[in-house]
Amino acid sequence: MIVTLSGELGTGKTTLVRGILRGLGWVGPVKSPSYALVEHYLFSSLYFYHFDFYRFDDPDEWNTTGFAEYFRPDAVAVIEWPERVAARLPEVDVALRLELAEPGRALELRAATPAGEACLAQFAALIG
Ligand SMILES: Nc1ncnc2c1ncn2[C@@H]1O[C@H](COP(=O)(O)OP(=O)(O)O)[C@@H](O)[C@H]1O
Ligand SMILES: [Mg+2]
Repeated sequence: MIVTLSGELGTGKTTLVRGILRGLGWVGPVKSPSYALVEHYLFSSLYFYHFDFYRFDDPDEWNTTGFAEYFRPDAVAVIEWPERVAARLPEVDVALRLELAEPGRALELRAATPAGEACLAQFAALIG
């Protein structure tokens, strides 16, 4: 599952990922991957990767770091600043966009594949 997370700096992208991880039961620290570009979280049934490509500016880095290998069927990738690597990403399942709102934030959710549609349908059922 590939989930992109767009929005200006400070709109709450990392905070949302932290909330998703807490919802999955992760109790450890959740750092912004703004320097490492990726943080790994291992659950019993899946690998969860949190990317932040804000500082991605070297196209060779994509190959030397082996980013493509992160996008596997047993992995969920949530990606901040997907615009910086757009042409390299495989098919995106769900595209999220955060914007400042009063009060709080507005979140737009778009499914782009059947898997993404199933994911958002479950989410809609969950929040009623
Ligand atoms: N839904 C929200 N409502 C109010 N403040 C928020 C919300 N989400 C995040 N914030 C605050 O906004 C700031 C930036 O959040 P962060 O997740 O680091 O943004 P981003 O990753 O988009 O740059 C933090 O101080 C955070 O506590
Ligand atoms: Mg962030």
